[in-house]
Amino acid sequence: MASLLFYFSATVLFSQSTVAFNCSKPPIYVDIHKRAVHGTDRFQYGSFIGVGSPAQNQSLWPSLSQNTTSFASSSYCNNNTTLKNCSVSTGGFFDVSLSTSFQENGKDFKSKDTERNGTFTGIYGQDDMHLYTHYFETDGASQTLLSNVTIEVAESGAITPGIVGIGASSIVLQDLIDRDVIAGRTYSLYIGQGHDRAGGAVNGSNTFGGYDAGRFTGPVHKYSMKTSNLNPMTVRVKDIIITDSKNPGTNVSLFDPAKFPSMKSRPDTFEAQITTDQYPLSLPYEITQNFMSQLGAEKDNTWGDNSLKLKNPFSGSLSIVLDDGFTVTIPPEVLVNASNITPIQDRDEKSTAPFYLSTAFLSQVYLMADFDTYVFYLAEAIQKNNAVMPQTFCPKSTPTAYERPKQSAFVAQGLIGAVIGGIFGGIGIGVVAFCFVMAMRRRRDEKKLEERLEKGKQAKIMQMEVEDVPEFDPPPKSATPFFWRKR
Ligand SMILES: *[C@@H]1O[C@H](CO)[C@@H](O)[C@H](O)[C@H]1NC(C)=O
Ligand SMILES: *[C@@H]1O[C@H](CO)[C@@H](O)[C@H](O)[C@H]1NC(C)=O
Ligand SMILES: *[C@@H]1O[C@H](CO)[C@@H](O)[C@H](O)[C@H]1NC(C)=O
Ligand SMILES: *[C@@H]1O[C@H](CO)[C@@H](O)[C@H](O)[C@H]1NC(C)=O
Ligand SMILES: *[C@@H]1O[C@H](CO)[C@@H](O)[C@H](O)[C@H]1NC(C)=O
Ligand SMILES: *[C@@H]1O[C@H](CO)[C@@H](O)[C@H](O)[C@H]1NC(C)=O
Ligand SMILES: *[C@@H]1O[C@H](CO)[C@@H](O)[C@H](O)[C@H]1NC(C)=O
Ligand SMILES: *[C@@H]1O[C@H](CO)[C@@H](O)[C@H](O)[C@H]1NC(C)=O
Ligand SMILES: *[C@@H]1O[C@H](CO)[C@@H](O)[C@H](O)[C@H]1NC(C)=O
Ligand SMILES: *[C@@H]1O[C@H](CO)[C@@H](O)[C@H](O)[C@H]1NC(C)=O
Ligand SMILES: *[C@@H]1O[C@H](CO)[C@@H](O)[C@H](O)[C@H]1NC(C)=O
Repeated sequence: MASLLFYFSATVLFSQSTVAFNCSKPPIYVDIHKRAVHGTDRFQYGSFIGVGSPAQNQSLWPSLSQNTTSFASSSYCNNNTTLKNCSVSTGGFFDVSLSTSFQENGKDFKSKDTERNGTFTGIYGQDDMHLYTHYFETDGASQTLLSNVTIEVAESGAITPGIVGIGASSIVLQDLIDRDVIAGRTYSLYIGQGHDRAGGAVNGSNTFGGYDAGRFTGPVHKYSMKTSNLNPMTVRVKDIIITDSKNPGTNVSLFDPAKFPSMKSRPDTFEAQITTDQYPLSLPYEITQNFMSQLGAEKDNTWGDNSLKLKNPFSGSLSIVLDDGFTVTIPPEVLVNASNITPIQDRDEKSTAPFYLSTAFLSQVYLMADFDTYVFYLAEAIQKNNAVMPQTFCPKSTPTAYERPKQSAFVAQGLIGAVIGGIFGGIGIGVVAFCFVMAMRRRRDEKKLEERLEKGKQAKIMQMEVEDVPEFDPPPKSATPFFWRKR
């Protein structure tokens, strides 16, 4: 037995060290925002992914626990589902009968999501998947076509379909590797805040095989994945501090037994899973109680997720300190919205459910995962980024935030075209990319202004939100990712 184990681990080590990653492969950037999707006239927030041929566009929610890419069938919501607000919760609908490329699998298919909460019935099969890259509202999307990929179509049940699964056995990451499209099993996420529950405006992004260097700032913090957890990205929390904006000097630690005498001693650090499967944070019972007593929060279920509600408005922030010192601050507008709803969930004293740093936490954090070495990185997210900077995330390497060069002189002198034309061949590709993005932004802004003047505000909003660019195969030139090349 011992020798078998040794043999096994030796093989694993061997195969890891001999894998050669091609880190010249550009990443695939898939944005997350609200848009028109197939099968409903309500805009949905999620990853811009189409399924079938012709493509039925969807807004898929990224899950760090699930592995499968799932869709809701057209009749899912009419078939006795228990999913609340079903018609606006599935990120679109997939009508299998309209896809010429769908092939149903035999019944012996084994789901990779055996641990998923909730039962359902549905079909599995193979179909085309279109990963759309769409940087600017006024420009077209380009697509990465993955044909014959395994998908799941839910027909009835209690689950929330419309998921792109980025769990430890992610099918979409595996497909991208098998087809030699991306450099390694790496993936980065900014979930954004443009969905209804968050009530914000900032959009998110997925980067398969890479990361968006323009989306985070400061040093990255490295953690090991814990693959025994459903959400393998797991950290330890050592402190949670409330800062009152009106009294910035008076920080209150929810771990402080002097402040909260119901605790006999300072609590130990606790393990929390990073998840997108729910919006509110789930913290240990006593910490939750301290939060409630400090801010006057009470149980509420306005949103069906047990988020606590304050009796009175509060303007302040909540800082979560991880055991390595990395501190993530939930700003006042996220901590308490205008209806006094907080992103902290009520917790039962006897609950044994895991603790979660969930979507509300990720609205402030950029997450970069390396499934080849089972490590991940967190960094402070830049909320309003001015440059989209997808970079290859080579397995085993450490992502670095993009440093904006001080080159506004270029812009001022109108040299952007020349730079893009490649005349300044020696200039770092980062500068080129920055200028390129700035140029695109400026063009977009000009177009926006024209539209505003011409059609008025309402028309402009429609124009921004409806994806109406027909041609993308082959990808339009503007999407040819020359600025993705590794520096
Ligand atoms: C690595 O990927 C790049 C971009 O896809 C490709 O041009 C190059 O040929 C690949 N190199 C190897 C050794 O496969
Ligand atoms: C929904 O459930 C009811 C009662 O169990 C049943 O009569 C009805 O046929 C079901 N509808 C569908 C579409 O499955
Ligand atoms: C969800 O459903 C509830 C009750 O049916 C309704 O009040 C609410 O407006 C719905 N939310 C959305 C976003 O449609
Ligand atoms: C996804 O795959 C991982 C690794 O195989 C597994 O541990 C996890 O339980 C799966 N997720 C679900 C929801 O079953
Ligand atoms: C699964 O769903 C049930 C019912 O919605 C819920 O009570 C339970 O906490 C969930 N479990 C997990 C692990 O999310
Ligand atoms: C409802 O669900 C059942 C069981 O999954 C499925 O066989 C049936 O086709 C579904 N009905 C509709 C109208 O989609
Ligand atoms: C599609 O995938 C299935 C399952 O992976 C495989 O059996 C089938 O041969 C593939 N078809 C094509 C045309 O590649
Ligand atoms: C506050 O958040 C709750 C839950 O997301 C939402 O129902 C409510 O509309 C929000 N209030 C405002 C004023 O945004
Ligand atoms: C997010 O995306 C939507 C839809 O494209 C757009 O209207 C909105 O302006 C974007 N928000 C930001 C902050 O860029
Ligand atoms: C209060 O906490 C915040 C967040 O951890 C920290 O940045 C700040 O320095 C603290 N202020 C004081 C006076 O301790
Ligand atoms: C799906 O999105 C693509 C890319 O923007 C677009 O070209 C296509 O027309 C969309 N499909 C539908 C049915 O809107």
